[in-house]
Amino acid sequence: MRGMLSPSLMCADVLNLQRELTVLDELGVDYIHLDFMDNHFVPNITLDTELIKKTKSVLKHMKRDIHIMAFEPQQYFDRMEIGEGDIVSVHYEACGDLGAVIADIRARGAKAFVAISPDTEPDVLSQWLGKIDGVLVMTVYPGFAGRPIVPGSMEKLRAVRKMIDESGRSLPLEVDGHVSWDLCAEMRACGADIFVAGSSSLYQKGLDIGQAVERMTELVQ
Ligand code: DX5
Ligand code: ZN
Repeated sequence: MRGMLSPSLMCADVLNLQRELTVLDELGVDYIHLDFMDNHFVPNITLDTELIKKTKSVLKHMKRDIHIMAFEPQQYFDRMEIGEGDIVSVHYEACGDLGAVIADIRARGAKAFVAISPDTEPDVLSQWLGKIDGVLVMTVYPGFAGRPIVPGSMEKLRAVRKMIDESGRSLPLEVDGHVSWDLCAEMRACGADIFVAGSSSLYQKGLDIGQAVERMTELVQ
């Protein structure tokens, strides 16, 4: 599976989001990473359901990669208009009935990814690998951009990739958190396929977004 970028919209210029989306769409970027937070599962609030819904009307090519850092995420699916083509990552730690949440996402025609936070061991995924469409590994503690990578994250990525491969499923592995210029190639070598590009790469100050997208795309192939 080729390496794909998912720029994190919460790290872009939040006063000009429609322009940011259009620029990335026209660059042919695969995914746009849309973080939703409930101020309970993580102590922060970022993009809201209305904005996440409205992105559908702007995107021509890019697919939505929605990362829900909220308890009982299914309560927000209607408001986000979850549907065909979307990736929806829900946290293992935040769902009372993960099986029902996964089924709900798939019933809407979207791809169900399970996200695990840094303190959650990969083996919790083993019973789910046959029922999901991908895994998101948080390599920082979720809730804020600009956080440092958690020690042991590369080993964790390798372990999850090994679990996925041994399951016989060719599931994509998404990495989210401090995906930096100097670490993204190593993350690829550990088995990541989708790279959430935020303040540690594409949205570093003063970069030309077109050149940054081109450079990062090369680094993760
Ligand atoms: C953080 C979010 C990430 C964040 C990554 O909880 O899930 O998507 O935007 O930003 P950086 O690249 O700054 O870690
Ligand atoms: Zn995220």
